[in-house]
Amino acid sequence: MESNIQKLNRLKKERNAVILAHYYQDSEIQDVADFLGDSLALAQAAKKTDAKVILFCGVHFMAETAKILNPDKIVLIPDLDAGCSLANSAPAPKFKEWVESHPNHYVISYINCSAEVKAMSDIICTSSNVDKIIAAVPKDKPICFAPDKYLGDYISKKTGRDMVLWNGSCQVHEIFSETEVINLTQQYPDAKILAHPECPQNLLVYADFVGSTSAIINQAKISEDKQFIILTEPGVIHQMKKNCPDKEFIPVGSIGGCACNECPYMRLNTIDKMISALENLEPQIILEPELMKKALIPLEKMLNLSN
Ligand code: 13P
Ligand code: SF4
Repeated sequence: MESNIQKLNRLKKERNAVILAHYYQDSEIQDVADFLGDSLALAQAAKKTDAKVILFCGVHFMAETAKILNPDKIVLIPDLDAGCSLANSAPAPKFKEWVESHPNHYVISYINCSAEVKAMSDIICTSSNVDKIIAAVPKDKPICFAPDKYLGDYISKKTGRDMVLWNGSCQVHEIFSETEVINLTQQYPDAKILAHPECPQNLLVYADFVGSTSAIINQAKISEDKQFIILTEPGVIHQMKKNCPDKEFIPVGSIGGCACNECPYMRLNTIDKMISALENLEPQIILEPELMKKALIPLEKMLNLSN
């Protein structure tokens, strides 16, 4: 009898599909993906692919980005409810008011936002290119940064640029326990702390390295250190262990000890839902052509600056 993985591979061929997956997906999804990456690398891979169908194993804004870059392709997401608290924190009508109340500002939106918000932005950034994107904005131009106040605060301090910040956050990175970070540093005094810039400042002060998911994975690989405390969604640990079986990776738990350090949206995707998506060509990402055209402009600007 055909196993689930065999079925998935057969359907992938029949549909001429490519599977793109983010590092926060369950390990079994990471293992069947054709391409694995952070949000920038996934957008770049989506732009390059010549497959007819993209099965996007990540969250909705990432699949939307793939669709905007490929309006004529079928873009599937295993579970349409795979949203993002950051994207949800910036509803388009409120964002429009905010932008209009800051005339003459250059609007930079983190890629974790809806297509509507992208369409109202001057440029998009991710956590791996935010420095470059900000450096490209003329020094005398005031900046509005949305929707992640923590990434905005981090990058504003790092670059010295004054920024008006939207009040949004990632529910996963916001709820890491500072007490546990302190306890872990005492328990593992030699461990280096690798953190994602979506963490609030009270956590980032403990970090030895701050970067995107792919930068964190790479740092663990190139470092001579042997123990790492991971201040981001623990999905990244799968690749870290594969790359460096001799190193130890310690995830940080959440306030109250719940399993909220796993992104509840990312973890909605499953192998069964991937099979069903390829079988039925549903659920698809559907966007208005006019909206895609507008959202493509700031996305293309970002991609051109990221090469
Ligand atoms: P990366 O750009 O590092 O993949 O981050 C995406 C994300 O949603 C982190 O929570
Ligand atoms: Fe969104 Fe946070 Fe999940 Fe990343 S981890 S997809 S920012 S909710």
